[in-house]
Amino acid sequence: MSHSMLSLSFAVVAFMAQESSAADLAKGKESFLSAGCHHCHGQAAQGARGPTMAAMKYPYEAFEIFVRRPVGGGMPPYSATTLTDAELRDIYAYLTSLPGPAKELPELLR
Ligand code: HEC
Repeated sequence: MSHSMLSLSFAVVAFMAQESSAADLAKGKESFLSAGCHHCHGQAAQGARGPTMAAMKYPYEAFEIFVRRPVGGGMPPYSATTLTDAELRDIYAYLTSLPGPAKELPELLR
């Protein structure tokens, strides 16, 4: 394989990887809105009645446990039938991609 063909195929792979993650983020944003998270966490997840969700630092596992069985009394639980694991993963990908003050694991999730 010539050198130029090799660098072209790297460029294609890099482009495809970026495309698929952009699609996941778009799906995540869509699910964030359709599940109604924005009613309490803000249109851009900036925080409203519920805390900001932007730039989460904590792992997916903590996020999932909380969304499935929230503690604190301010948030309704979301079962896997209301919100699938795939949708929840996309929402997490979207939220962690947002700029904003780094959001560490809150007291409630510890
Ligand atoms: C009815 C309002 C409401 C809705 C709808 C809602 N939340 Fe919340 N959420 C809250 C409140 C209030 C808290 C703070 C903890 C508490 O008081 O229960 C919270 C806390 C959280 C937390 C943990 C705390 C933190 O700061 O990270 C996560 C994660 C979260 N929400 C994600 C979501 C996601 C994802 C959705 C949509 C699927 C959603 N929430 C929908 C009100 C809401």
